[in-house]
Amino acid sequence: MADRKWSDPVTVEQMYGDWDWEAAVAAVDRSLDPRPSSSIFDALESLGVGPNDRVLDIGGRDGHHGLLMAERFGCRVVSVDPAPANIQDGEKTVAEHEHGHLITLALGTIEQIPADDGAFTLVFSRDMFAHVADADVALAECARVLAANGVMVLHQVFATDLLEPIEAEQVFGHTAAVPERFSVDGFEQAARTAGFTIEDVEVLGSEWYEASQEAGTAPNYLLQVSRLRRAQDALIAEIGEVAYRVVYGNALWSINQMLGKLESRIYVLRRS
Ligand SMILES: C[S@@+](CC[C@H](N)C(=O)[O-])C[C@H]1O[C@@H](n2cnc3c(N)ncnc32)[C@H](O)[C@@H]1O
Repeated sequence: MADRKWSDPVTVEQMYGDWDWEAAVAAVDRSLDPRPSSSIFDALESLGVGPNDRVLDIGGRDGHHGLLMAERFGCRVVSVDPAPANIQDGEKTVAEHEHGHLITLALGTIEQIPADDGAFTLVFSRDMFAHVADADVALAECARVLAANGVMVLHQVFATDLLEPIEAEQVFGHTAAVPERFSVDGFEQAARTAGFTIEDVEVLGSEWYEASQEAGTAPNYLLQVSRLRRAQDALIAEIGEVAYRVVYGNALWSINQMLGKLESRIYVLRRS
């Protein structure tokens, strides 16, 4: 969404003039029916994903989304993540889940995917690409493990013109994010270089955050930042510096999306 620019400031007369504050606030308090984060699976539905598909969830953490895909589409999923703790966390849940037999959890990275050439019909990547040091290497590896005409569905956050350098430094520095990954042009160029055709781009902006705030399932990130700043030393002493920084970074990440400084997108990339 492009922010409208006004050349003239609001005057005192206008600000305290003849308009209805209650009506204006009521209009803004009305839900815009934002899509929830599960909307990423609607993209898979549109692609016709089904039981014959072999899916790689790269950066799949503990297999949570892999289980959701197996449940909804009956597909087989290999969920790959480089953090041993994530794999360990997922093992019991996967073993006990009704669709757990469809999931394999494996250690690995997007730069070195533990799979044969053409092993998958779909590569799914949700909210992990920000950590990637070299987009060309990562996307070439995704293309390698995809069968001919296979598809990659990638969700990632990108920076908009509203993000100031000092804000970028702060949010990326606390979230192990590689600043170059936030460029739309850079990403699209890397996707083409890896041999992908960009079949669709869905700009979600801040919709997922609106949805989770409306549902009451997300924390109050602004309140978190206020407390993190006011009680910095005490919180660092209590939870440790790394936890402090990551929680702070996650709150800034979320707020910057709601401010339109970062925006969420879903790309559908076809292996040419
Ligand atoms: C923000 S979490 C997202 C997890 C999950 N995809 C989701 O949407 O909830 C990012 C994940 O990417 C993983 N990750 C970090 N660097 C990676 C890499 N080079 N290759 C694959 N996964 C990576 C992390 O271990 C973490 O589980």
